[in-house]
This record gives sequence, C-alpha cells and structure tokens, in this order.
Amino acid sequence: MDRFEKRAMALALSLVLMFFGLVVYAAKGLQADLPTCLPNARLFDRGRLVEIGPNRYQVDAVAFMWGFDMGTLNQIKLPRGAVVDFYVTSRDVVHGYHIDKTLVNLKAVPGAVTYSRVKFDRAGEYQIICHEYCGLGHQNMAGKVIVE
Ligand code: CUA
Repeated sequence: MDRFEKRAMALALSLVLMFFGLVVYAAKGLQADLPTCLPNARLFDRGRLVEIGPNRYQVDAVAFMWGFDMGTLNQIKLPRGAVVDFYVTSRDVVHGYHIDKTLVNLKAVPGAVTYSRVKFDRAGEYQIICHEYCGLGHQNMAGKVIVE
C-alpha cells in the first residue's frame, strides 16, 4: 500500500467515524431519534395530544385529505423545551409529515405508524407540511406547531 492509499483510507475512516459521532450526537445531544417505521405499533384513527410526563408529550397525528388531525385540526400548542414523540399515520393515501426547522420528516402511511422524537428548544411557529404529492388538495395540506 503506497502513501497515497494510506491517506485515502485514513480520510475514509475518519469520515465514517465523524458521521457515526454526529448520529450519536443527534440522538443523545439533540434528543432526535432516527425516524422509524413501527410495523407492530397499535393503529389509531384519531389524532390526540397527550402529556406523558414533565414537559414530555405524545402526538398521534392522522393525515387525511387534506389536513392533519392531532387532537385539534392542523395545529397544536406546546411549551418551550417540550420533548415530543410523534406517531404518524394516514386515514386514506400516503401523505408526508415534515415539521420545518426540526428533524421530523416522516411518511404518513395507511395501516402503518411512523415515529420521530424532537425537542422544541425555541419558541415560535413551526410549519407542518405534506411533502408527498397526495392529490388535488395537496397544496392545502399544512399545519402548525406553536411553541410558547
Ligand atoms: Cu397530503 Cu400531499
């Protein structure tokens, strides 16, 4: 192995280690779980927002043509610093569920539940959009997380 190959191998290995470190930092430091599909999760067809602990929340979100049911329609309010588990499904076709300025970027799939966790450190409004073309009303599918 010549000197150039050794350098290339060292660079590749350091990039892999750096990437792994960033994944661990995102999971532990930012409390952002990797988006997951939960094949054995309980199914639900109504949205809800539940407080499950001190500043800990669970949101069951149901996407439909054309909106998001999260207990209230298209909008939820949370206190600053809230750590939220999002469980997302769909009532009809495949939709998207992306929360702006967060790592929540899920598919809403009928008969399945996808999951992501996020901590809202900053007050403000976070737009929720459907990023999967789902029909004629796709462009109207928007929601909001309001952090106070
Ligand atoms: Cu729902 Cu696009």
